[in-house]
Amino acid sequence: MIGKMNHVAIVVPDLAAASVIYKNTLGARVSQPKPMPEHGVSTVFVDLPNIKVELLHPLGKNSPIAKFLERNPGGGMHHICYEVEDIERAKEHLLAQGARILGDGEAKTGAHGKPVLFLHPKDFSGTLIEIEQA
Ligand code: CO
Repeated sequence: MIGKMNHVAIVVPDLAAASVIYKNTLGARVSQPKPMPEHGVSTVFVDLPNIKVELLHPLGKNSPIAKFLERNPGGGMHHICYEVEDIERAKEHLLAQGARILGDGEAKTGAHGKPVLFLHPKDFSGTLIEIEQA
């Protein structure tokens, strides 16, 4: 069902500092920070030949990643995102397999303007998984 990996998201305590590390230490191409108030994050995109890495920092009062940063003050890997062709079919399959979808269980428009679902980390070896319709 899942296809390509789309991105890995890393929550960072300091977006500018993390950008510099990816740009200078790792020699990657990084974007300018992009505020996404509707998602409660500011994001820097690291463009690699085969995948994106997204550096995330909380934005606003109700950021969905604020608690993660409290628990992991030095930052850490937050989620990985896999692509699917059809999010509704993916949802049916996942539910039939007993996987738990976070939130109200409905696909939402994600940070790339495409429908996404988040799956409970306890069902996937302790890793938060985002499913995105490619
Ligand atoms: Co994501």
